[in-house]
Amino acid sequence: MEAALGPVFGVDRQLIADGTYFIAEHAGQIVGCGGWSRRRSVFGGDRARAAEDAVLDPAHDPARIRAFFVHPDWARRGIGRSILSACEAAICAAGFRDAVLVATLAGEPLYASFGYSVAERYEAPLSASLTLPVVRMVKRFDPNE
Ligand SMILES: CC(C)(COP(=O)(O)OP(=O)(O)OC[C@H]1O[C@@H](n2cnc3c(N)ncnc32)[C@H](O)[C@@H]1OP(=O)(O)O)[C@@H](O)C(=O)NCCC(=O)NCCS
Repeated sequence: MEAALGPVFGVDRQLIADGTYFIAEHAGQIVGCGGWSRRRSVFGGDRARAAEDAVLDPAHDPARIRAFFVHPDWARRGIGRSILSACEAAICAAGFRDAVLVATLAGEPLYASFGYSVAERYEAPLSASLTLPVVRMVKRFDPNE
């Protein structure tokens, strides 16, 4: 977990600047968060990037689903589902036809329940020659829905 902080689980302030990051709040506390992106990165904080994150073309590129975290005390109460629904609505409104994400193994069941399919399993490099098993998942949106 320590080694994943930074290269994989860093804060991406670009999502906030773009207005594509959602939070769930209870009594003034953030209990969940998650977002989408019209930019190239699939994970990682802005401090891990050397240059500006390039903007995608909705006609050709899949939107990104990014940075979902729900506080363990609030797990399995539908917060992830409601944030993911908000992301998908915004992605479709922005004209994207597909979405891609790189999930942790903990995140995979949430995305699978939304119809994302596994495209690739691989090990994301962390510091100190450790790796984190991750899953690239994809979904095509039905234009008639
Ligand atoms: C992954 C995560 C964001 C899910 O958030 P959540 O609010 O607990 O998810 P929801 O309650 O909205 O779950 C929606 C559906 O996803 C699936 N699901 C979610 N967590 C699951 C689990 N641990 N096991 C099996 N299915 C799960 C279920 O189908 C669930 O529907 P159900 O509860 O009616 O069966 C949360 O567990 C988390 O923050 N994990 C740690 C951080 C992390 O790995 N984030 C993912 C980065 S890609």
